[in-house]
Amino acid sequence: MKAIVVTDQAAGTAGMKLVERPEPQAAINDVVVQIHASGFVPTELAWPSTWTDRLDRDRTPSIPGHELAGVVTALGYGTTGLSVGQRVFGLADWHRDGTLAEYVAIEARNLAPLPGDVDFTVGASLPISGLTAWQGLFEHGRLQAGQSVLVHGAAGAVGSMVTQLAREAGAYIIGTGRAADRQKALDFGAQEFVDLDNDALEDVGGVDLVFDVIGGDIQKRSAGLIRVGGTLVSIVGPAEARPADGLAVDFVVESDRAQLSEIVQRVRDGRLRTNIGIVSTLDDAVAAFNPTERRNGKTVIRVRP
Ligand SMILES: NC(=O)c1ccc[n+]([C@@H]2O[C@H](COP(=O)([O-])OP(=O)(O)OC[C@H]3O[C@@H](n4cnc5c(N)ncnc54)[C@H](OP(=O)(O)O)[C@@H]3O)[C@@H](O)[C@H]2O)c1
Repeated sequence: MKAIVVTDQAAGTAGMKLVERPEPQAAINDVVVQIHASGFVPTELAWPSTWTDRLDRDRTPSIPGHELAGVVTALGYGTTGLSVGQRVFGLADWHRDGTLAEYVAIEARNLAPLPGDVDFTVGASLPISGLTAWQGLFEHGRLQAGQSVLVHGAAGAVGSMVTQLAREAGAYIIGTGRAADRQKALDFGAQEFVDLDNDALEDVGGVDLVFDVIGGDIQKRSAGLIRVGGTLVSIVGPAEARPADGLAVDFVVESDRAQLSEIVQRVRDGRLRTNIGIVSTLDDAVAAFNPTERRNGKTVIRVRP
């Protein structure tokens, strides 16, 4: 099969190569999926799991990419809940070969059915950004209707999902980002926007929840805005700052079949809009991951036309 591999961490996305690899076999509780569309987060190449297995042994050349939408072609021993021929989407294991390939072997529990009226490109754009937003807001942030949320990077892949899901849940949304992102963040449902390069973040006043996708100084200054009992949710590693009288939580997204189904249902009935930027082929994927212009939304690789 065709697959993108990485061998050299220092080379980053420029070191990705399109090669021939053997098709994967389904292990216990796995399915093999013929991939129609795949998603990739550039920061994957900085994560240890891209380079080593769970015993810290080198697993290069490894196939990156963890989001997929496709069709089940084989079941492993003991696999239940999915069948051959079924359309699925989901989030692959961080420590195994991923989804920038024609086939992937993946535990069935990491997948959910993809309804027939949802395009594979849409399905592949949702798992990381949708699940991260859902888990950060509702599991870690314990968001309640009427609360206010400061959503950093509100026009980005995760931030646009956070903005829409929090708004639907009855929260007041203050989005942030670059000046050029203002209208996009407002279109996704932010009620206010802070241009982090030109506006004073401190003018926001108090908020109940900060959803941080940036870290560093922005995170430290945001922690000071959190009201008593509020929460700082970080998806960029351990929180560098704590609210004076609240919680700081960092987490790594996990696959969840029920949450994937909630997310795709919202896309079907128009409550959730995707944020897809470049759509490319596997042959052109390396160029797509090394854009000459600023990325605007999620890059999706359409593996099968
Ligand atoms: N923990 C987890 O489970 C998890 C899950 C998903 C993602 N992540 C991480 O979360 C981060 C965001 O992911 P994403 O896919 O949403 O990325 P993305 O699509 O690039 O969105 C990030 C947005 O924030 C903006 N931004 C970043 N730094 C900024 C700054 N200093 N001032 C103003 N705007 C700024 C970006 O603008 P520019 O492009 O102009 O910088 C972009 O619009 C990544 O580091 C990713 O690895 C973690």
